Amino acid sequence: MKLKSKSTTLIVLIFSLLGVAFFLLSSLNYKNNNKHKSFVPGSKWTDTNGIHINAHGGGVLYYNGVYYWYGEYKASGRSGNTSLKGVSCYTSKDLYNWKNEGIVLKVDKDPNSEITKGCVIERPKVVYNKKTGKFVLWFHLELKNQGYNAARTAVATSDTPTGPFEFKKSFRPNKGVWPLNFTYQQKKLRTWNKKELKDWSAEWIASVKNGMLIQRDFEKGQMSRDMTVFVDSDEKAYHIHASEENLTLHISELTDDYLDFTDKWISVAPTGHNEAPAIFKQDGIYYMITSGCTGWDPNEARSFKSTSIWGPWQPLGNPSIGKEAHLTFRSQSTFILPVQGKEDAFIFMADRWQPRNPIDGTYVWLPINMMNGKPVLKWQDKWDLNTF
Ligand code: DGJ
Repeated sequence: MKLKSKSTTLIVLIFSLLGVAFFLLSSLNYKNNNKHKSFVPGSKWTDTNGIHINAHGGGVLYYNGVYYWYGEYKASGRSGNTSLKGVSCYTSKDLYNWKNEGIVLKVDKDPNSEITKGCVIERPKVVYNKKTGKFVLWFHLELKNQGYNAARTAVATSDTPTGPFEFKKSFRPNKGVWPLNFTYQQKKLRTWNKKELKDWSAEWIASVKNGMLIQRDFEKGQMSRDMTVFVDSDEKAYHIHASEENLTLHISELTDDYLDFTDKWISVAPTGHNEAPAIFKQDGIYYMITSGCTGWDPNEARSFKSTSIWGPWQPLGNPSIGKEAHLTFRSQSTFILPVQGKEDAFIFMADRWQPRNPIDGTYVWLPINMMNGKPVLKWQDKWDLNTF
């Protein structure tokens, strides 16, 4: 009898110790998963496994209490800017701590696929379509071994935010349609074959503004490189991309299912050389931040505002202030993230590219301040959401 009660006590003791150990281990793990409490722009940002986040040129979707960060999965070395895996996704509830959800759109092994391994997939953006219940991923696609000549936009869909996304198609948009903001005269002008014009001569600039390159690409569709997608408060979505040899931005309406273009589009800031568009809306006004066009090197950002998505877009100049404002703090815009649960709280998301070893690229996230009706970016060594 005595022996039996002794062994019961021992078993209870062992189980209690195991319980305590389990509790300690899981709270340690919880601590590890939630260890970041602030943003440190430009430093290496580790995910919940302690690995540098690999989601470049990205965008964030908020869905059912979770933020989903989608981005370009980059590799090491020279070929690291080509897509060897696809589009990555990370999730977070607090914006500081991110769990790796893996590759949600995989490049294809089939060499004949438009998204075959080694193509270029850039600036992926995911939006949720309330009508169809589909997650729609748009991205800039360059076909393998064709440099940046294909200049296509591409679309993929999934039933869940963490994929797998199924590639649908890639194309050059707005084939055979003029922008809404072109006049009758501009549509009639025949400027596209003025090959003799010297680039940046006054006549060349006037010709581009009057649609020389739109005409050139009229039948095959307009070029589409750096891009973003914006869903408005009425659920209409817009695709915003650098077109016409990166000289001019195009803003196009997407169909109600977000899977195609409606043929309604405008050209913005012709010959302005804007890339990396990012957009947000506050108090009924649309604001856009873009970069100049200097490859992987940083340059001075630009900003615009408009009371309608269809313009006119008023230039507001460089939104950055302080040291390195002329280089956007050595970064390039990719997305503007509305913080949930806070009014008028927007985060400017940008990439600090590392073209020699693209996987090492870091992220510069900064709060957007509004001053005299303009978005303003100021460097912060370290900041958190209490800033809003
Ligand atoms: C700048 C663009 O913003 C990037 O997305 C990428 O296309 C590089 N140019 C390529 O040089």
